[in-house]
Amino acid sequence: MLPKAIDEVADEELEQALSDHLEETREHVRRVERAFLAAGAEPAASRTEVLAPQERDVKEPTLAALAQAGDAARIEHVELALYDVVIGLAEGEAAKLLEQNRKDEAQALAVLERQAKRLRAVLPR
Ligand SMILES: [Fe+2]
Repeated sequence: MLPKAIDEVADEELEQALSDHLEETREHVRRVERAFLAAGAEPAASRTEVLAPQERDVKEPTLAALAQAGDAARIEHVELALYDVVIGLAEGEAAKLLEQNRKDEAQALAVLERQAKRLRAVLPR
């Protein structure tokens, strides 16, 4: 999802923020895999529609970027909620790894909220 959003976004600052978070996300996957191993469980991939990007046909570039920032922020909120659940179930090293990811997700959300605020400020009226 992030690579597609990065390809489609027309705003350079938002693109950089999303690219930075893509790198973090790759590390998150490695941490989740280590957390599963630490918990003695087998990781398995799955998809959820909640995280799917919205299809839009917005012509105005700043408004399109604002919508993309909103989509990305929505995904971060969902990720935070999911981490809150699994951290509550995890123990020891697994919990520590997942808490590192949750901290990164909270920072990513803060970055996206700043991007959305910046975009709203320059949105044509
Ligand atoms: Fe994220």
